[in-house]
Amino acid sequence: MIIDSNKIQKVIDDSPQDKKQLIMILQNIQLEFHYLPKESIGLVSEYLGMPQSTVYSAATFYKSFSLVPRGENIIKVCKGTACHIKGADLIIDQLYAGIGIKPGQTTKDMKYTIEVVNCVGACAMAPVMIVNDKYFGEVKCNRATKLVKKG
Ligand code: FES
Repeated sequence: MIIDSNKIQKVIDDSPQDKKQLIMILQNIQLEFHYLPKESIGLVSEYLGMPQSTVYSAATFYKSFSLVPRGENIIKVCKGTACHIKGADLIIDQLYAGIGIKPGQTTKDMKYTIEVVNCVGACAMAPVMIVNDKYFGEVKCNRATKLVKKG
């Protein structure tokens, strides 16, 4: 996936030129492109006058940032103990059957990415799936794809 550097620069230029705003600038880039294109590291570094290694460190330190392309919709399937016991793997299998990707993958149309996460603190509702920021509890595996498409 190739992102036009000018589009990245536009997002950067709309941000305060202040080193303290590094995280916010990275968040804005990720919000726009759903991940941090590799060119963004150099562009942010230049804009803020800080080493690329510092920008890269921040981009890799926080789990919320991704350096690989991600879909518009992020599907997280909890595989903590309670969710695992209650059928998280069945949800993953069902999503594979429904949208054709496994955890860590993104659909070719860049619409969906599936990620596996550890316990999200909602064990009483296991198994849990999160689509973008919306939580679904007691997910029946045969409904997983429908829930994702409904969003
Ligand atoms: S194990 Fe899934 S929410 Fe706790």
